[in-house]
Amino acid sequence: MSWMKLLSAAIVVAALAYKIREKAMAEPPIPELDPDPWWGPGAREKGDSSVRPFKIDISNKDLDDLKARLALPLRLTPPLEKANFTYGMNQDTLKEIVQHWRLKYDWRKRETLLNFYPHFMTKIEGLEIHFMRGKAQTKGAKDIKVLPLLLIHGWPGTFVEFYDIMLLLTTPQEDSNVVFEVICPSIPGYGFSQGSAKQGLGHMETGQIFLKLMKRLGYDQFYLQGGDWGSIIASSMATMYPENVLGVHLNMFVANTLGTNLKLILGAFLPAGIVVSHEDQEKLYPLTEKIGMFARETGYLHLQATKPDTIGAALNQSPVSLAAYILEKFSSWTHKDNYKEVDGGLLHKHFPIDLDKILDNICIYWFTGSITTSMRYYAENFSPKSMANNVESIPCRVPSAMSAFPHDLLNQPENFVAHKFYDIVSYSDQLVGGHFAAMERPKLLARDFHKFVNIVESRVK
Ligand SMILES: *[C@@H]1O[C@H](CO)[C@@H](O)[C@H](O)[C@H]1NC(C)=O
Repeated sequence: MSWMKLLSAAIVVAALAYKIREKAMAEPPIPELDPDPWWGPGAREKGDSSVRPFKIDISNKDLDDLKARLALPLRLTPPLEKANFTYGMNQDTLKEIVQHWRLKYDWRKRETLLNFYPHFMTKIEGLEIHFMRGKAQTKGAKDIKVLPLLLIHGWPGTFVEFYDIMLLLTTPQEDSNVVFEVICPSIPGYGFSQGSAKQGLGHMETGQIFLKLMKRLGYDQFYLQGGDWGSIIASSMATMYPENVLGVHLNMFVANTLGTNLKLILGAFLPAGIVVSHEDQEKLYPLTEKIGMFARETGYLHLQATKPDTIGAALNQSPVSLAAYILEKFSSWTHKDNYKEVDGGLLHKHFPIDLDKILDNICIYWFTGSITTSMRYYAENFSPKSMANNVESIPCRVPSAMSAFPHDLLNQPENFVAHKFYDIVSYSDQLVGGHFAAMERPKLLARDFHKFVNIVESRVK
C-alpha cells in the first residue's frame, strides 16, 4: 500500500473517531424549569417572603389520639416459623416495639430535644417550607472559616436524621479549619414542609425551592450534603446551579451516563482489574446476586412510584401500620443480612440507631400525616417527564465527594461516577455503615465532609 493510501485511510479513521467522540461527548442540555411555579392549592396568591420562627408543639388532642390508637388491640399475624424478617416486618418484633412506644417512649421529652435546634417556616412557590438551623460556633478559635451548608434528608427520613451530626458540623473539629452554618430543610411533603397540591414537584423542582430558600437566607453560595433523595436533590442542584454550589458531598450516589452504563455491562464479563478494580468488585457484582438483592429491596419503590395514594391510605390510618413500614426499612437498609435476625437487628444492643430516634422519625410522619405526600415524591421523580431530563447523565463540574458506606443500597465505584462528576475531590470507602449514614455513623460522615471542604477551601481560587 502506498503511503498516500495509508495517509487517506488514517484521515478517514481519525475523522470517524472524532465524529463518534463528538457524539458521545455531546452534553445533554440542562433542563429548563418554570422559574416561578405555584405548588400551593388553587390559584396563585400574593407572595409572602417572611421567615418565621417555628416550634414543634404537637397538640394534646393529636397526642391523645395517637395514644388511643396505640392502645387498640393489635391485629397482627404471627410470623412464619424461623422466617425472622424474610417476609418483611416480623410482627412479633412489631408488637414489642409498639409496646415500648406506648408505655416507655415519652413524646413530650423527645419534643424538647427536637426543639434544641431552632426551626423556621417560610413560604416558597406557594408551599410552607420548614427548616432547622444549626448555628456555626467558632468557640473563639481564630482562622476558622464559617461556611453555609444545605443538608438534605431522604425517605423514610426527616430532619431527625441529623441530630447527631449537627454538632459535628457546627463546632470546630480536629484537623479542620471550617465550621458550618447548617440549614436543614424538609423536602416538600415531608414532615412540616407542606406537600404540593399540584403534580410534578420532583427533585429538580425541589432544588429550585431550596436554592430560593438559601438565597432568602442570604447565602448565594453554599456547600451541599445529601443521602437518599437528599443525594439526588444535591446532585441535581450542583448540576443545575454550579455558580451557587461551592461543593457537593454525597452518601449513596449514582451516575447514569453512557460511560457508566457501558462500564457496568463490560465489568460483568471482563475479569476484575480491567474496568472495575478488585476492591470495587463487590459493590456491583456478581450482577445476578445484586439484581436479586435489588428486586428484594425495591418493591416499595415500584409501589410508591406508581400508586402512592393507595398504600398511603393504609399507612396514614394506623400508627402501627406506619411503624411497620418504616421500621422494616431501618432494619433492611442498615445491614443487608438483618433479615436473617429474629428482630431484624432492631432490638439488638449494637443496632447502630437508637430505637427512640427511629420512633421520633416515625412520630414526625404520623403527627404531620405526611407519609402519602412523601411517597408521592417517588411518582414525581419516576414520571416520564422527570426521567426524560435524566439529570444523572449531565456532567457536574463543581468540586464533589462521595462517602461509600458498605451496606448502603447502591454505590458506584469512583471511576463510574467520574463520568458525571468531573471534579471528584475525595471518595472514601467506609468499612462499616449503611443507608442512614448520618444517623448510624455521624462521626465518619462528618469527618469525610470536613476533609472534603478543607481540601476545596485550600485550593487557590
Ligand atoms: C432466624 O433466626 C434463627 C435464630 O437465630 C436462625 O436459627 C434462623 O436460621 C434464622 N432464619 C433465617 C431465615 O435466617
